[in-house]
Amino acid sequence: MSIQDEFISTVSHEMRTPLTSIRGFSQTLLASWDRIDDDNKKKFIKIIEDQSNRLINLVENILTVSKANAGNIVMKKVSVNASIKSIIPMFQEQYKTHKIIFHSQNDLPSARLDDDKFQQIMTNLIDNGCKYSPEGSTVNIKTEAKNEKIIIRVKDEGVGIKKEDSDKLFKKFSRIENHLTSKTQGNGLGLYITKQLVESMNGQISFESEENKGTVFSVEFPVYNEEEVLKCSQKS
Ligand SMILES: Nc1ncnc2c1ncn2[C@@H]1O[C@H](COP(=O)(O)OP(=O)(O)O)[C@@H](O)[C@H]1O
Ligand SMILES: [Mg+2]
Repeated sequence: MSIQDEFISTVSHEMRTPLTSIRGFSQTLLASWDRIDDDNKKKFIKIIEDQSNRLINLVENILTVSKANAGNIVMKKVSVNASIKSIIPMFQEQYKTHKIIFHSQNDLPSARLDDDKFQQIMTNLIDNGCKYSPEGSTVNIKTEAKNEKIIIRVKDEGVGIKKEDSDKLFKKFSRIENHLTSKTQGNGLGLYITKQLVESMNGQISFESEENKGTVFSVEFPVYNEEEVLKCSQKS
């Protein structure tokens, strides 16, 4: 298979699962509306929302990689804690047995970021953390400020990454064989895009990993600095 054919095949496969679920729950709601109690109605609609979000993430990633969406970065003052808090419920719904724990530093300064792109970055990292770790394990997300940087860490207790595979990680379409990659859906775009996005917002990404113990991905961004922004806008 050519790389394009393979891409189309994995992407269609990744789209089919959420679409099937959206169609199924909509059909059930329409056909049995009067017989379903309010709690269940709410539950089904929530699933439709979560699965739609999953599709949107996939489309965002494809658009970013095709550059159709590049150059569209709007840097603003962003509360990293609030931004992360808003996406965690979606993962808790999708990965029901994982414990997703957020340790946010109090009074964390704001960062200078594009909030949508930041959420795309976090979505890719948290998704990988859950996907490449066993059911029932914990994914810890932690924020802190240090030396004028905001640091965000996503730590899992998963399969880990071999030293010799480190170079492949951030390459386009590259997936690394492990006993979970064969079971999980993916297209090898997530980390490629994540690195591009991080760097386009003056950030850095790195990771540490131990096989069969787990992995920590860290991203850092400059703290939002009112004076600097003012200086830049006066110059231009
Ligand atoms: N947290 C992680 N733990 C172990 N392996 C990981 C982790 N994150 C990424 N990987 C490996 O890096 C590869 C590339 O990741 P990514 O670009 O997000 O693609 P995808 O998730 O679609 O396979 C994955 O296939 C996986 O093998
Ligand atoms: Mg991924």
